[in-house]
Amino acid sequence: MTVHFIGAGPGAPDLLTLRGRDLIAACPVCLYAGSLVPEGVLSHCPPGVRLVNTASLSLDEIMAEISAAHSEGHEIARLHSGDLSVWSAMGEQLRRLRAANIDFTVTPGVPSFAAAAAALGAELTLPGMSQSVVLTRTSGRASAMPDTESLINFAATGAVLAIHLSIHVLPRVVRELSPHYGPDCPVAVVWRASWPDQRIVRATLASIEAAVGQSMERTAIILVGHTLGAEDFDTSRLYAGDYDRRYRPVGTQPRFPSNESADADITQGAAP
Ligand SMILES: C[S@@+](CC[C@H](N)C(=O)[O-])C[C@H]1O[C@@H](n2cnc3c(N)ncnc32)[C@H](O)[C@@H]1O
Repeated sequence: MTVHFIGAGPGAPDLLTLRGRDLIAACPVCLYAGSLVPEGVLSHCPPGVRLVNTASLSLDEIMAEISAAHSEGHEIARLHSGDLSVWSAMGEQLRRLRAANIDFTVTPGVPSFAAAAAALGAELTLPGMSQSVVLTRTSGRASAMPDTESLINFAATGAVLAIHLSIHVLPRVVRELSPHYGPDCPVAVVWRASWPDQRIVRATLASIEAAVGQSMERTAIILVGHTLGAEDFDTSRLYAGDYDRRYRPVGTQPRFPSNESADADITQGAAP
């Protein structure tokens, strides 16, 4: 029997992978992080499912639930919000499962920063402006930040910042970032991206605190960067008419080898 870790996405029940949806539908036991996974996502569970909200459970209690279902021979769906690769607490659960010789799979999900960018209708990386997005957070009670991963250090790069778990310290975020990005730098706060009550506040570093006020808590992401709302950016070379590339060669003697020989190169390169 297997524990299937599934990225449950940002909240909308139809922002799951097809694999994730099908796994949820196939598992008679579902453990879900109820503080962030909304009920709508659970609508994919089969009739008669045993639902366990793990929001109030300790790691030991979660593992006891998994062990019990496992020893009864049940497949188990384990849901965490967004994608599992960031701030899911999956790592510590996988460590326990490996120690207990319990099989698991991992199915990725739509991360909240991507859902927030979609809600804004924004590409976060724009040519000539910013080509990196930093997924980060500020210190919380449960997790301290390593000294080198401060907002100030990331700000020095000028990258777009996607700041999670931090809406409650918005004044501090503004204070630390303003000297680097400038008070006019665009900021967007997206609260409950993809939920029916999703809210978006767009402002600048100078005005975001007043614009947000007390209206948002917990499930919000703060995006900071000059690409937000920008129109004055370079056009990429990718679709330029004179840009020679494998799938749209220009001229009679394209720079790239044919697909066949390119594939052969890749195969040789990958050989041990
Ligand atoms: C414990 S982390 C989980 C992150 C998740 N694994 C992901 O891939 O986005 C929770 C934080 O993610 C952000 N978040 C999660 N879902 C969100 C949503 N629907 N809208 C906005 N922010 C969200 C918030 O910053 C929240 O405090």
